[in-house]
Amino acid sequence: MTIPRLITMTLLAIVIFYSALWFFPKKEITYMPDEQLRTYALSHGLAPVPKHYRDMLKVVDNPENRLSPAKIALGKRLYFDPILSHDKTISCQNCHLLNEGGDDNLPTAIGFHGLANPKHLNSPTVLNVALAKRQFWDGRAKDVEEQAGGPMQAPFEMNITPDLAVKRVVSVPEYREAFAKVFAKEGNQSVTFANIRKAIGAYERTLLTRSAYDRFLEGDNSAIDDAAKRGLNLFIQKGCKGCHTGMSVGGQSLQHFPLRRSLADLFKSEPFPFPNIGGFLGQNGDKKFRVPILRNITETAPYFHNGAVKDLREAIRIMSKYQIGDEFTPEQIDDIVAFFKTLKGEIVPYELNLTSGAN
Ligand code: HEC
Ligand code: HEC
Repeated sequence: MTIPRLITMTLLAIVIFYSALWFFPKKEITYMPDEQLRTYALSHGLAPVPKHYRDMLKVVDNPENRLSPAKIALGKRLYFDPILSHDKTISCQNCHLLNEGGDDNLPTAIGFHGLANPKHLNSPTVLNVALAKRQFWDGRAKDVEEQAGGPMQAPFEMNITPDLAVKRVVSVPEYREAFAKVFAKEGNQSVTFANIRKAIGAYERTLLTRSAYDRFLEGDNSAIDDAAKRGLNLFIQKGCKGCHTGMSVGGQSLQHFPLRRSLADLFKSEPFPFPNIGGFLGQNGDKKFRVPILRNITETAPYFHNGAVKDLREAIRIMSKYQIGDEFTPEQIDDIVAFFKTLKGEIVPYELNLTSGAN
């Protein structure tokens, strides 16, 4: 074959491949009645967050960092304590406000001395984050215990060295006592950076939220309205659930974004359908991102890894167009929004269950 012919054939193959992806017949959906919708959801990876401590342990306990009420309480105190930042002004709560969806409502995080995240990364929610299989936008930490060391040391977040963090904590007598008690069974009772990470991680494991969606999955048909049910149908049948899955409705895998691009998009230099502020390109620069958790998504604007999209409807439209190749109509977007509203929850008060002796 001559070279020009080879080039023509290759170009033709590329055109056919992309056209096939783009023009693939749209998936028709049949709206399932309540019982069927619930059964389908439960048998395809979606699940309610447990109400009780014992059931919660089965889901989030870490064999390398066993949960206990005292460890959770210690972690909670550390989570809110600014002494873990160099200038004693910033705690985890600064960027992950527990009463505001677990994030900071800013396009990008602002940390130590007002410094912005150098890659313009958006703070993800900490709510339900222990249900995720990897942590961070590029999935580089395996769990919340490993993750917690990152922000403390990052110069643009809390900017503290492990040694200084330990020194600060040791200087507080109640902390010394609490560490000795909590870690007595684990061999190393002293205040170490690893134990600080473990305590914070233990607390984060309990930051699970329950909402109307959980009550629907548990059998209450009246917990969510018809629009939300249509939205859940769409979410499942159109394939959003393929990536945003599991108890946390996300967080289970790293996925390419954008997955599908039209031929016209191929000639655009922008890697994303929104401004590439910060230049972050995901894991290994491959445009692979840890799929975000969608519980409490109505509370965590702005959206995407660099916070470039303010409007939830626009985020949904982008996803439908680029991830499933089936751009939603405004009515379908309404239904998805109605479904997303049912994911707005309250942190389950597990510690209270414990101290009251109930379970
Ligand atoms: C200055 C703001 C800031 C502070 C302070 C901060 N974080 Fe974050 N957090 C972020 C940003 C931004 C990311 C995303 C970074 C990335 O992916 O590289 C993040 C990511 C996370 C994640 C991963 C979530 C996910 O879904 O992948 C967890 C968990 C987390 N932070 C917990 C904490 C804890 C615990 C502390 C306190 C020790 C803390 N953060 C302090 C801004 C902050
Ligand atoms: C192939 C996997 C995949 C599919 C299918 C998918 N998503 Fe996503 N979704 C992602 C990834 C990856 C991101 C993060 C992209 C980024 O920030 O750059 C994301 C981000 C989002 C966000 C923004 C989350 C945040 O916290 O910033 C929303 C909302 C969302 N998706 C909704 C949907 C909806 C609705 C559908 C179905 C139409 C869908 N997704 C289908 C992988 C997927």
